[in-house]
Amino acid sequence: MSRLTAPDLLRRKTAGQTVDRIVMVTAYDAQMARLVDVAGVDMVLVGDSLGMVVQGGQDTLSVTVGEMAYHGRCVAAGLERAHLTVDMPFMSYQVGVAQAMRTAGTLVRKGKAQSVKLEGGVRSAPAIRAIVDAGIPVVGHVGLTPQSVNAFGGFRVQGRDQENADRILADARAVAEAGAFAIVLEMVPAALAAQITRELGIPTIGIGAGAACDGQVLVCTDMLGMDQRFSPKFLLRYANLEATITGAVGRYVADVKSGAFPTAAHSY
Ligand code: KIV
Repeated sequence: MSRLTAPDLLRRKTAGQTVDRIVMVTAYDAQMARLVDVAGVDMVLVGDSLGMVVQGGQDTLSVTVGEMAYHGRCVAAGLERAHLTVDMPFMSYQVGVAQAMRTAGTLVRKGKAQSVKLEGGVRSAPAIRAIVDAGIPVVGHVGLTPQSVNAFGGFRVQGRDQENADRILADARAVAEAGAFAIVLEMVPAALAAQITRELGIPTIGIGAGAACDGQVLVCTDMLGMDQRFSPKFLLRYANLEATITGAVGRYVADVKSGAFPTAAHSY
């Protein structure tokens, strides 16, 4: 089976209309990548959320290009159909266009990325343009951009007042004009996301951005309910793997302690 490409995904929005909604989910290893690919997602994102999900940090700021490339390679090994996007981590593209191009190249060569994602609109547009011109498809990301968490003062909905909404709209336009083939809208009011979706020719992929987007993205461990302590308003949990896993491992612990496992059937 062949992998979905950036042009395939761009065609999901034709003449400004959603033809077929894009389903994106994060993954960080080959096992999860295989499972979400079999389940039919269109895009797998190796998000820099791995700084929180995999590394247990409070934010995404410590993640390195080498770590993104490593997890990209792991995820690529599990995919047959889905498109692989790998995040450009904090300070791997903000220094300048040349740095951004080098990082994108590393994520393609070493991380097996089919496209890269970077945060920011107007300020990131020159980097997006240069990476696209180098032949690497780009996904933009505006609204709540977690790499700016310290400037925002927390992981908060963005664009609630008119001035901020106008800024996010200008950012989204700049991303599209710079040549990105899709854009993530994170934690913005549904009406603003709907306006951006109507205006842009490229697909919008929402997370906490309402139903009008051309696609949706969730973090795999969130949607699978692996940490019940995390329950933002935008999240729908499709499973309770925290209960499934702690229950299963708890039974294993009990069986080993009691001597119920292994039995003769599990022995050579
Ligand atoms: O890092 C990430 O997982 C992301 C998604 C939440 C869009 O950027």
